[in-house]
Amino acid sequence: MLDVKDLHVRFHRARGNREAVQGINLHMDSGEILGLVGESGSGKTVTAMAISGLMNRRESSCTGEIWLDGVELLSCDREQLRKLQGKDIGVVFQEPMSSMNPVMRIGPQIEESLRIHTKMTPMERKERALYVMAAVELPEPEQVYEKYPHELSGGMLQRAMIAAALTTRPKLLLCDEPTTALDVTIQAQILELLKRVNREFQIGILFISHDLNVVRKLCTRVAVMYQGKLLEEGPVDQVFYHPEHEYTKRLIAAIPTRKKRG
Ligand SMILES: Nc1ncnc2c1ncn2[C@@H]1O[C@H](COP(=O)(O)OP(=O)(O)O)[C@@H](O)[C@H]1O
Ligand SMILES: [Mg+2]
Repeated sequence: MLDVKDLHVRFHRARGNREAVQGINLHMDSGEILGLVGESGSGKTVTAMAISGLMNRRESSCTGEIWLDGVELLSCDREQLRKLQGKDIGVVFQEPMSSMNPVMRIGPQIEESLRIHTKMTPMERKERALYVMAAVELPEPEQVYEKYPHELSGGMLQRAMIAAALTTRPKLLLCDEPTTALDVTIQAQILELLKRVNREFQIGILFISHDLNVVRKLCTRVAVMYQGKLLEEGPVDQVFYHPEHEYTKRLIAAIPTRKKRG
């Protein structure tokens, strides 16, 4: 479904000539959950932004190939790209509060990509939004629809973001540290939700995290990123129990055990 080949991303104004992403290859089957882990600054977010087409083209340049179901995205013109990426790729980011418009009600924000990418009538859009809100277990969707972001808890906001990403039935959901800002209980609920969304909607998830523990709970395969490159990739258990690289071993050793956490 997704094939990233030799992806490079360079910021024009970066210090020196360092590329943030230096020739990454990724493959995802449809319906798969792939984890992308690595320390802060390793290039995870830039990779996700490049795949979702959200990179600012004046600030940066991407080379390589990004294939989504037989279409190469980097060679599409802007108009095509906007259509494909907005409809087929949903994104969920770390800070739901900063991804939402604070002065706009939740419902219309969830409907946004339907407004841009479909010819649905306002009534059809609302119906679809309420359906997806119920699917992500937002309690009392009709009421939440009318609320403003500050009236929702962090966990509910993240559910609303996930709902917004799902309205167009994308093939791929990019989740960039979606639970990092949430407390542990809510985090576990959101992970359960993502698992269910993956199963029920048959949607592939690229799950980005610096936390190997979280990735282990959710993903079948994991790719490890370090300084703009992929170090290794494989089934979660293989990478955990037989890591190839010293860096991966250190990442695993850095996982707090139950005891250490107290
Ligand atoms: N807009 C930008 N301009 C210049 N450099 C950037 C920009 N965004 C990210 N970078 C650089 O790209 C590298 C990768 O960043 P990022 O993908 O955000 O890392 P991660 O998500 O793994 O923490 C970092 O060195 C960062 O400083
Ligand atoms: Mg990041």
